[in-house]
Amino acid sequence: MMNKLIDGSSISRYMQASLSQEIESFKQSTGVTPGLAVVLVGDDPASAVYVKSKGKASVKLGMHSSTVVLPQNASRSEVLNTVHRLNENTDVHGILVQLPLPSHLDANDVIDAIRPEKDVDGLHPANAGLLALGRPRFVPCTPAGILELLKSSDIKTSGKHVVVVGRSNLVGRPIATLLSSKGEPGDATVTLCHSRTKEIAEVTRSADILIVAIGQPKFIKADMVREGSTVIDVGIHRLPESEGSGLCGDVDFEAVSKIAAAITPVPGGVGPMTIAMLMHNTLLAAKLLHR
Ligand SMILES: NC(=O)c1ccc[n+]([C@@H]2O[C@H](COP(=O)([O-])OP(=O)(O)OC[C@H]3O[C@@H](n4cnc5c(N)ncnc54)[C@H](OP(=O)(O)O)[C@@H]3O)[C@@H](O)[C@H]2O)c1
Repeated sequence: MMNKLIDGSSISRYMQASLSQEIESFKQSTGVTPGLAVVLVGDDPASAVYVKSKGKASVKLGMHSSTVVLPQNASRSEVLNTVHRLNENTDVHGILVQLPLPSHLDANDVIDAIRPEKDVDGLHPANAGLLALGRPRFVPCTPAGILELLKSSDIKTSGKHVVVVGRSNLVGRPIATLLSSKGEPGDATVTLCHSRTKEIAEVTRSADILIVAIGQPKFIKADMVREGSTVIDVGIHRLPESEGSGLCGDVDFEAVSKIAAAITPVPGGVGPMTIAMLMHNTLLAAKLLHR
């Protein structure tokens, strides 16, 4: 089967070019420069790379960018004080706390402290609640990126069976909610799988659109996918040196790409879209504060 590669890198570039123009006209009409602040606690190398690319993208698009780096052993009050300071800083419109946090910190505690109007990751209960009610304000960046990938690739979801594997608050749960909501993209019949799902291969094989966010390298094999389906791979993993040290996803791309009608690569699929949607949410936050 001829498969269609869903090229997240070029869709993201296109979106960022149009965002850059929107940011420029917002700056001209309000005199305000949208600003993103990222909080990084600890020295996880993957998180440091993600934070760096978020900062670079903000600056490239004409926004302010700042990063607060706290040590691995930062206390709860140090982290909360940082968030409170950013809540009050009028140059900062969007706040993102890079996850995961070191194990002595409770992520919910920190997310709850972010002012909901600045919560560009869409994880605060107020924003998650709005999303669940079908009145989204900030859609979490990765699910928002997946919707854009589907739209840009003209993959319709209405009436389709979407299977989401993984139920995290960051990806699985919100994308399941969005795609089961009224309107396109949405109007799908959604099955949400997790580690306790029985006969998972049977469920994934019934998907018209399969979205995988589980954090298990190459977990989805060709015999778990229906021929002609669309496969969206959210996972991102560094391969061991023996396998070339490159990146791979939660899907066995080489095998699955032979039978899927459309598939996202890793890298170059969902990842770049997450950054584009973070930029989109930061501009939205500035617009909400200065309308
Ligand atoms: N590309 C991007 O921009 C981007 C953004 C975010 C995340 N990611 C990547 O996406 C992956 C998932 O991240 P996340 O934060 O969504 O996940 P997470 O918080 O680690 O949660 C993983 C989910 O997968 C489920 N799961 C784990 N093993 C499973 C299995 N064998 N069968 C079925 N379900 C299984 C877990 O089930 P239980 O709930 O039952 O434990 C859980 O719901 C990671 O590789 C992460 O690095 C990429």
